[in-house]
Amino acid sequence: MTKRDQYAVIGNPIAHSKSPDIHARFAAQTKQSMSYDKLLAPLDGFVEAVRAFVQAGGKGLNVTVPFKLEAFALATTLTPRARAAGAVNTLKFENGSMLGDNTDGIGLVNDIVRNAGVAIAGKSVLLLGAGGAARGALLPLLDERPARLVVANRTHAKAVELVHRFDNNPFLRAGDFGELEDVFDVVINATAASLSSEVPPVSPRVFGPHTLAYDMMYASEPTAFMRFATQHGAQARDGLGMLVEQAAESFDLWRGVRPETAAVFAELRARMEAT
Ligand SMILES: NC(=O)c1ccc[n+]([C@@H]2O[C@H](COP(=O)([O-])OP(=O)(O)OC[C@H]3O[C@@H](n4cnc5c(N)ncnc54)[C@H](OP(=O)(O)O)[C@@H]3O)[C@@H](O)[C@H]2O)c1
Repeated sequence: MTKRDQYAVIGNPIAHSKSPDIHARFAAQTKQSMSYDKLLAPLDGFVEAVRAFVQAGGKGLNVTVPFKLEAFALATTLTPRARAAGAVNTLKFENGSMLGDNTDGIGLVNDIVRNAGVAIAGKSVLLLGAGGAARGALLPLLDERPARLVVANRTHAKAVELVHRFDNNPFLRAGDFGELEDVFDVVINATAASLSSEVPPVSPRVFGPHTLAYDMMYASEPTAFMRFATQHGAQARDGLGMLVEQAAESFDLWRGVRPETAAVFAELRARMEAT
């Protein structure tokens, strides 16, 4: 019997990951012969764990916290969006090479544009945060050609540094939380504040009735940021769709087949709400 192609998500911790569930659904839907497991790597043993996986015939990995920077360093080839992000969430192993990609940002953009039906082209976008998730989002957001993209972060210097990496882009600037007083079309929370039920210190004036307030975090209940935004008149959406879309992008890179995401998203949402 031919062995199925092996994939996994690697991280620490990893028990909570929904990726095996998502990829099993994609594989069934597209009739791909593959397995997808969870791989717990020791905090100081990421590279060894990846090499052992490749040695055993593994074809690809999703990489999650806290290994995305190590995966970036390990990859032998990088996609432009991985290079721009400085982080890798997808590795593909082929003919002795390790291709590193970053599908988080395109997953975010696809969820906003295709699934939520909200255009970014020509619109004003506020990105809150300057950590790994924000870095991954910048290039795919800029590729949509927003009229302006402002990055604000608690530690302002990090937002400035991030914007500097995209030298001379006239549509991109770093903003200070204190000076943001006008309404944006899309406000994306890429901070980790929701993990501790906090809201980034952004003025409620950035929200209007047509604003999409997008929290990259997802949970069975609306996050603190989503509640804050809806209290001030915005439409809110969480990051579950981003999770499914980034997985679809990785799946396509590995298998050359694009899975349908809508049904998988609906099933995950229903299951989350039932627990
Ligand atoms: N849906 C998805 O598929 C997906 C994918 C990736 C990430 N995410 C989510 O995105 C979020 C950020 O992840 P990350 O990997 O970018 O984290 P990270 O690299 O640790 O960055 C954290 C960012 O949040 C800011 N921050 C932390 N606590 C804050 C607070 N209380 N108030 C204001 N700002 C705060 C930090 O600001 P300083 O620079 O000032 O410390 C930094 O900009 C997490 O909620 C994560 O779950 C979702």
